[in-house]
Amino acid sequence: MDKKELISKAIEARNLSYSPYSHFAVGAAVLTKDGKVFQGANIENSAYPLCMCAERNALYNAMMHGYSKKDFVMLALSADTDGPCSPCGACRQVISELFPKDAPILMTNLKGALQETTISELLPFAFSEDDLK
Ligand code: THU
Repeated sequence: MDKKELISKAIEARNLSYSPYSHFAVGAAVLTKDGKVFQGANIENSAYPLCMCAERNALYNAMMHGYSKKDFVMLALSADTDGPCSPCGACRQVISELFPKDAPILMTNLKGALQETTISELLPFAFSEDDLK
């Protein structure tokens, strides 16, 4: 699966977004080494802090199918933003724990914008499990 196909899967995942409060649908897709794709969309709640982002749902979806950090090769996210959609701070923290530090993260929008980055770039100096030792 190439980058373009993974971006399509992220955009497709937006269709499953439950976002009646923000009306802002986000989709994400994570690719594994063995070629599987796990999708996620944002799922909101009337108790707003309980809203869950697309990126976290995609990673949690993959983990619930037995995959983990060592298996992940690429993550894409997309929303109807002017520029490439950027992961929120909470997702950056979760990605930094569950996703390889130098694997590509494809930030995109519906108009074809694409910015490729890594979690090392998005969250330098991250708090991690090492800090708990
Ligand atoms: N959202 C995501 O799903 N991912 C992000 O990286 C940014 C924000 C969701 C959370 C909420 O449901 C809606 O977008 C508006 O913030």
